[in-house]
Amino acid sequence: MTHQPQLTGTDRDDILSLPWGIPLEEWPASVLVALPQGISRHTVRFAQVGDDVVAVKETTSEMATREFDLLRQLRKRGVPAVKGIAVVTDRRDSSGDDLPSALITKHLRFSMPYRAVFSKTLRPDTATRFVDAMAVLLARLHLSGFYWGDVSLSNVLFRRDAGSFAAYLVDAETGELINGELSSGQRANDLEIARVNIAGELLDLLAGARLDPSIDPVTLAAKFVTSYESLWAELTEWQTMDSTETWKIAERVERLNALGFDLGEISLSTDLPGNAVKVRPKVVDAGHHTRRLIRLTGIDAEENQARRLLNALDEYSARSRKDDQWDEGRAAHEWLVSEFEPTIDSIPEDLRGKLDAPQVFHEVLEHKWYLARQRERDVPLAEAAAAYFSDILRHRRDEEVLVSPPTTTISLPVITDWRDLV
Ligand SMILES: Nc1ncnc2c1ncn2[C@@H]1O[C@H](COP(=O)(O)OP(=O)(O)OP(=O)(O)O)[C@@H](O)[C@H]1O
Ligand SMILES: [Mg+2]
Repeated sequence: MTHQPQLTGTDRDDILSLPWGIPLEEWPASVLVALPQGISRHTVRFAQVGDDVVAVKETTSEMATREFDLLRQLRKRGVPAVKGIAVVTDRRDSSGDDLPSALITKHLRFSMPYRAVFSKTLRPDTATRFVDAMAVLLARLHLSGFYWGDVSLSNVLFRRDAGSFAAYLVDAETGELINGELSSGQRANDLEIARVNIAGELLDLLAGARLDPSIDPVTLAAKFVTSYESLWAELTEWQTMDSTETWKIAERVERLNALGFDLGEISLSTDLPGNAVKVRPKVVDAGHHTRRLIRLTGIDAEENQARRLLNALDEYSARSRKDDQWDEGRAAHEWLVSEFEPTIDSIPEDLRGKLDAPQVFHEVLEHKWYLARQRERDVPLAEAAAAYFSDILRHRRDEEVLVSPPTTTISLPVITDWRDLV
């Protein structure tokens, strides 16, 4: 009987059907899925298991277990990170020699490593959105007590989020979850590591002529630091004001909501001279709009996509209000079945791997607006969608599968459930 490796963290024994007796470097193309990936020290490959695509990383059993636990805890705390599925240990090859252990994570669909995003065509304003997304990720990690220790573009995955990007942590290996708050020294350390790594990674792209020459790597890396710092101040700083100026609190809450953060209680300190008070909001969670959209429609979208879809929903609701029974829940249901779902269902089969559903809907809305301006009349949603599919989406790069495998053509399962994106 062939040797069975140990599987921990899951009861999915279909994972054991992967060729664990062979070094990952030598896995046959028949089990692999060719997807874009970042640079890494360890061997990482994507494989098909049942309906899932998983990322397999060879490493030591200690590291795999440690990273698996960290990823699980981060997801529990609501931080955007890849999802740990299992750890495989006790692998042997056919001669009985030991093979490295492996960490298995769920492949983050429609995600792109930075090398796939930073291309020649990248405009500087897109680059800024990109580092802003990374600053939001680092602030969220720090708020949840995570010291990363290896902040770099290679350790982040990006997904389109309406006109911006959403960043996900992919490599938690060097990280540490702290009980309580991170010290300012720990945060400063992460920032310095980020600054140096981002500048280095961008310089590397520049050297390979893969970066728009108008982007200065060092300036962009410094922009990351200021972007993080202003966000961190908005999230955590005590604000002193006169007790008659408490409307300033509402303003700050609005600004933070707009950035996607939800707030709990506001701490207030009054032991100051005169009428002065000191306030600080407690951030309970990010994903303000994402959560509202899920609650109303079940659509799981990134923050800016959710904001966009909610605007469309609110507009629909105002347009279609029928009677006194009309409420948010009913409007959401009608919008979903009469606008969102028909649009998504009408995506031609062969274009479904290009973008995720909320992003397609966002882009259809953009195109509808564009056509209306061009034709100087309102354009129905279905007409705008059809024009968008044939004139824009068809010519877009496929983001789900970017790289063709060397020998065979591997197609991913058609996305039937767009809710299961992560
Ligand atoms: N779950 C996943 N979904 C999508 N891509 C993934 C996933 N896991 C890994 N990758 C890809 O594989 C690359 C390498 O993974 P990772 O950073 O964990 O390896 P590493 O060897 O630990 O890296 P480092 O050299 O920074 O230590 C990532 O940059 C990413 O592009
Ligand atoms: Mg890495």
